Amino acid sequence: MKEQILKRLRECDGFVSGQELCDTFGVSRTAVWKVINQLKDEGYEIESVNKKGYRLTGYPDVITAAEIASRLHTKYLGQQVRCYDVVGSTNNEAKLLAEQGAVHGTLVVSEIQDSGKGRRGRGWSSPPGLGVWMTVILRPDMRPVHASMLTLLAAMAVSDAVLALGLPCQIKWPNDIVIRGKKICGILTEMSTEMESINYVVTGMGINVHNREFPESIADVATSLDMENTGQEPAMTSISRSGLIAAVMEALEMYYEQFLETENLAFIQKEYNKRLVNMGKEVYIFEKDTKRGGLCRGIDETGCLVVEIDGHEEHIVSGEVSVRGVLGYV
Ligand code: BTN
Repeated sequence: MKEQILKRLRECDGFVSGQELCDTFGVSRTAVWKVINQLKDEGYEIESVNKKGYRLTGYPDVITAAEIASRLHTKYLGQQVRCYDVVGSTNNEAKLLAEQGAVHGTLVVSEIQDSGKGRRGRGWSSPPGLGVWMTVILRPDMRPVHASMLTLLAAMAVSDAVLALGLPCQIKWPNDIVIRGKKICGILTEMSTEMESINYVVTGMGINVHNREFPESIADVATSLDMENTGQEPAMTSISRSGLIAAVMEALEMYYEQFLETENLAFIQKEYNKRLVNMGKEVYIFEKDTKRGGLCRGIDETGCLVVEIDGHEEHIVSGEVSVRGVLGYV
């Protein structure tokens, strides 16, 4: 009921009467009053005026199931949420839950990850209160070779949510979101298969939101939404991490549904390539011990990166590959 009352307060510009809340949720005035007090204890600012009711005037930047649910309009993504204070890695936690039967769309979020995982065996810095560290469990009925395309859908979804905040973000193939050439988000997709079919996929997203500093090893290439909110773009007040989560879930569900119809990325190819930071530029492809240079031509329908090398086009499959600009990270 707390989630529903919060949702009702959030959706209403003015006051919501106590009587309306009682009637809608079939509870007593005392029960409503208790929920309002709980919300106030959690940091919500709620004005109560005699004969008018309650009005939400401020909210804390918390990641809770109630806060996410009060902002979410999806059919299944994020409808089941597991919020933790600390986990090792939300991807690992999600895999555990998936093994135990967690439903398609379950979202795992943690305030801290003490061993957050990046691609290619690297770590992911996940300090408390500063970012979104989350993983969504998917159970797609498709061939395992197609699962890597889900990372590109997630990249589109995160970039939609960031663009909606008014910030100019781009995608660095296959799984980084960058603003002005620095990384604000990384995506890590892992999969469990059984007899040539997918058991489950977990797609983890790490979004730097309020960070103001980073470990020395990534300080040159990392940034956060707050750091990039320089005031050059249209007004963006303080960012709600739960709002960001809800926006990503909504966009991802929309892309996911379209993707299932064809199991290819033709429907986003043009837009992805518009957002691609390396499009039309010279890049280096690092694969095992090799480094090759070429001209980036965008993604193909299957999410491979097309690079013109020595006069012919190569379709690079993501995986243990890394792409860099000739001058550095992008
Ligand atoms: C990368 O860019 O190398 C991928 C980073 C992925 C980080 C996210 S944070 C949430 C999820 N849990 C993890 O342990 N990793 C992903």
